[in-house]
Amino acid sequence: MTRSEELIEMEHQYGAHNYHPLPVVLNRGEGVYLWDCEGKKYFDFLSAYSAVNQGHCHPKIIKALNDQASTLTLTSRAFHNDILGDYEKFVTDLFGYDKVLPMNTGVEGGETANKLARKWGYLKKGIAENKARIIFAKGNFWGRTLAAISSSDDPVSYEGFGPYMPGYDLIPYNDLDALEKELQDPNVAAFMVEPIQGEAGVVVPHEGYLKGVRDLCTKYNVLYIADEVQTGIARTGKMIANDYEDSRPDILILGKALSGGVFPVSAVFADNEVMMCIKPGEHGSTFGGNPLACAVAKSALEVVLEEKLAENAFELGNYFREQMNTFIKECSMVTLVRGKGLLNAIIINDSPDSSTAWDICMKLKENGLLAKPTHGNIIRFAPPLCINKEELDACIEIIKKSVRCFE
Ligand SMILES: Cc1ncc(COP(=O)(O)O)c(C=O)c1O
Repeated sequence: MTRSEELIEMEHQYGAHNYHPLPVVLNRGEGVYLWDCEGKKYFDFLSAYSAVNQGHCHPKIIKALNDQASTLTLTSRAFHNDILGDYEKFVTDLFGYDKVLPMNTGVEGGETANKLARKWGYLKKGIAENKARIIFAKGNFWGRTLAAISSSDDPVSYEGFGPYMPGYDLIPYNDLDALEKELQDPNVAAFMVEPIQGEAGVVVPHEGYLKGVRDLCTKYNVLYIADEVQTGIARTGKMIANDYEDSRPDILILGKALSGGVFPVSAVFADNEVMMCIKPGEHGSTFGGNPLACAVAKSALEVVLEEKLAENAFELGNYFREQMNTFIKECSMVTLVRGKGLLNAIIINDSPDSSTAWDICMKLKENGLLAKPTHGNIIRFAPPLCINKEELDACIEIIKKSVRCFE
């Protein structure tokens, strides 16, 4: 047995079986690279579901982590700490909101946004008690809590976990007519949507959709909640994906790469009209806004700005899709490449229930690139945004070579 096999066996025996990882055991990361226990080097084409946008173990972020870790890590919000205010000023200036509410995981960001929207619905919109509705798009994914799965239309996520959260309804993604119909109901407090549906398989809506959502929400006095946990922090070639359409959300949720993948940091942004609906004691988290998180997140965002990661994602994303589009003309295995910036996916010419995408990922691994299917026939490609053109060219060659094996 190799060390990796031994470790996989231990996880299998002692850990819950709530994931189905690719059989690779990683023990080191640097920039766009990962190494397994046997010393094999890989390109990372998942970036921990777009959390490691700044690259693995970025020296500046790790220095901020170490410096703060040896000074002060957690006070809880029972007291003030000397890092939080400075971080809050920095991020609200950067993203252009009056206020931020710091949390930890992405799903807590979503929960926070939902609570804010309901509270606003009762206090400001005048919705009768317990009548507030929140509309979601089919295919959404925002995590694994009971609220998040209550808005899911994926049976794997929700089946067997009922009863579900009331007041949630689904409409088709990328359908402004369906949205307008729902928003006419005065009990609707918010529409929550991903600018690109990541887990659904990098589903990109038509140009103008986000602006359309913004305008409809304004017209019907409904809050537009953008879940940018996966698309945010430069992933799609802009700081947030809504920057493409000037479609500023009322509530913006960020997570994942907000800490460069160092540990869980999420944030919910809103203006005073919405954020001030929540009073002391009504929401919070022991770890939310802890000094370590604030120091790490500030330096992770500085890295994004200093290294122009959005610009790099924009340029190399265009280049990647161009190269892949040329490839699919000569390769019948792949029917489509789609995405924005460095959040992309290829669609394999096979059924969504097939194992082809998994098999291709196994071949990619053998050839030195780690990616994960989102469905039986869809593979997401999301490398760290610090990747350069030479590295991307090498990855494109690995992808072509691996896919060709299945023709
Ligand atoms: C769009 C989106 N929102 C929310 C989440 C949940 O984030 P977390 O896993 O940190 O709770 C995810 C996770 O993949 C996501 O892709």
